[in-house]
Amino acid sequence: KFEDLAQTPPMGWNSWNTFETDINEQLVRNIADKFIELGLKDAGYEYIVLDDGWMSRERDSNGNLVADPKKFPNGIKAVVDYVHSKGLKFGLYNCAGGKTCAGYPGSRGHQYQDAKLYASWGVDFLKYDWCDTGNLNARESYITMRDALYEAGRPVLFSICEWGTYQPWEWAGDVGHMWRITGDIINCWDCEVGHGSWASFGIWKVIELRNKEKIRQAAGPGHWNDYDMMEVGNGMTNAEDRSHFAMWNILNSPLMMGNDLREVSKETLKTLTNKEVIAVNKDPLAIPAFRFNNENNVEIWAKPLKNEKWAITFVNRNDTPVDIDFDWRRHQLSDDLSQRSLQVENTTYQLRDLFLHEEVGDTSKNLQTSIGVHDVLMLKLTPKS
Ligand code: GLA
Repeated sequence: KFEDLAQTPPMGWNSWNTFETDINEQLVRNIADKFIELGLKDAGYEYIVLDDGWMSRERDSNGNLVADPKKFPNGIKAVVDYVHSKGLKFGLYNCAGGKTCAGYPGSRGHQYQDAKLYASWGVDFLKYDWCDTGNLNARESYITMRDALYEAGRPVLFSICEWGTYQPWEWAGDVGHMWRITGDIINCWDCEVGHGSWASFGIWKVIELRNKEKIRQAAGPGHWNDYDMMEVGNGMTNAEDRSHFAMWNILNSPLMMGNDLREVSKETLKTLTNKEVIAVNKDPLAIPAFRFNNENNVEIWAKPLKNEKWAITFVNRNDTPVDIDFDWRRHQLSDDLSQRSLQVENTTYQLRDLFLHEEVGDTSKNLQTSIGVHDVLMLKLTPKS
């Protein structure tokens, strides 16, 4: 594995959530242009990743993968060059099985050949899925692809996508730079949609599914729990989008946008480019948040930051606005994993609202405010000297 990649959670855009297999050269060019025009590159977004559907249905006579000639008439290298010309990085998708999840040729039996081809095209990122794998062993399959990428010699960020089925947080730290921990996300707040034996999950289900398991300690520079591509801008309310974004940041998830950047609303853009929130995701301590409590259906999650600072989110899961009266002294906020605790008895912390971009008091008084339906209050706490 390439050790110096993904020192902070990877940021970028992935085609799947909005376009599924309906992707093409012009789309990639437009997205790359939007990264610059909309200030997304400035906010830290870097990778443009084509998910499933970029290939032809068959390999060529030499066994090489071929780009779909209708979608990519100039081949993949041409789009990679365009993305690179904007100072951005480019990613592709494939799968450990014989076929990808949408039925295109998978890498099983061709790992070293495919890795070489990606390197010759200048690919910087590979998302590697887990369909049609029969009785393959997950860890071994991902190690094979990792080694193939390594041997091809071009640094590639390796994104493992086996949906958490085989507890990648226990073995993937030196295999990939990020690994999915759940089945597929969908653009809803709190739901689960079944498709036969397969289900997809709303934002809160994605968070809750793994909350009880010990995955926090697996995250750190170069190896992150992937909560899936974001659904910000894909039809939830602005409040829900803010909560979603706040949680992905405070949990140290990769930040892969999944919306149509060619038509993005002002509010969506404001959320996605919130640099104060993104700074929480990039904090050098790299300790993901833990759930502190969820009294009255208000989720309180806390993340220790460098220099004894903290980030805290209060998310209102109720279908009505909620009034908060939070007594900092009554709550013992401490983290077993990092052995840190909020010292409200002998330290006063300044509070900053990371969505309003304003100072909003300190911990010497109760926090009194109200939070709208499914909205979030995200605070940064800084000890006063
Ligand atoms: C799986 C993955 C998705 C997407 C599709 C593509 O379902 O989990 O993120 O890559 O395959 O077919």
